[in-house]
Amino acid sequence: MPSLLSADFANLQAAMESVPSADALHVDVMDNHFVPNLTLGLPVVESLRRATPMMLDVHLMISDPDRWAPAYAEAGAESVTFHVEAAAAPVRLAREIRGQGARASLALKPATPIEPYADLLGELDMVLIMTVEPGFGGQKFLDLCLPKIRRTRALLDQVGGDVWLQIDGGVSAETIERCAAAGVDSFVAGSSVFGADDPDAMVSELRNLALRTGQ
Ligand code: DX5
Ligand code: ZN
Repeated sequence: MPSLLSADFANLQAAMESVPSADALHVDVMDNHFVPNLTLGLPVVESLRRATPMMLDVHLMISDPDRWAPAYAEAGAESVTFHVEAAAAPVRLAREIRGQGARASLALKPATPIEPYADLLGELDMVLIMTVEPGFGGQKFLDLCLPKIRRTRALLDQVGGDVWLQIDGGVSAETIERCAAAGVDSFVAGSSVFGADDPDAMVSELRNLALRTGQ
C-alpha cells in the first residue's frame, strides 16, 4: 500500500487517484514528539475519508495513542496502527479500536523485540514491523529486521487466525522479495511508489514480486 508521506501534500486527491490499484492508502500521522517530524492529524484523515472509498491504513507515530487512536477509527479509518513503545495500555487500546469497528494494529520500531508481546497477538488484526527508524520517508531498508520478521511470522502462525504482518520503510523492488519470503503479507511503500514515473504500475510490480516470492 502506498504511503502518502511521499506524495504531494498540496494535492493529496491527485496522489490518491494516481494509485487506483492499491489495496489501501497508508497515512502517516507524526507529532514531532514520538518522532522528530510533523505531518498531519485527525482533520486531514477525516477529509481523506470523505474524498476516497479506498481503505485507509493509519499509522500513528504519536506519543499518546491511548488518547488519540480511537478517534481515528471513529473517523472511518479501516485500520489504526499504534506504537507499542508509546502505548500505556496496548490491550485496552486494541479493544477500543476494534470496538469502533476498525482493525487494530501494533507497531514495533527496529530495536523493539516481538517476544514480550507474544501473548497480545490474539488481540490484534495486524503487526507492523518498522524496517527503518520511523519519522521519514526515503530511508534505507534495515536488513537487521529480517530475523524479527521471521520470528513474528512463526508466532503469528502459532496463534492462528488472520493477523496480517506488515512492514514499512525502504520497501522497493530491491527489498520486497526477501520480506515476502520471510512471511510479510502487507507492504507499505512511499518513495518507491511516488518516486516512480508511473506510481500505479509500481504498485502492481511490487505486488507481483511479493506474490511470486511469498508463501
Ligand atoms: C516512515 C513512515 C513510512 C514512510 C516510508 O516513518 O512510517 O510509512 O512513508 O517511506 P519509504 O517507503 O520511502 O521508506
Ligand atoms: Zn508508515
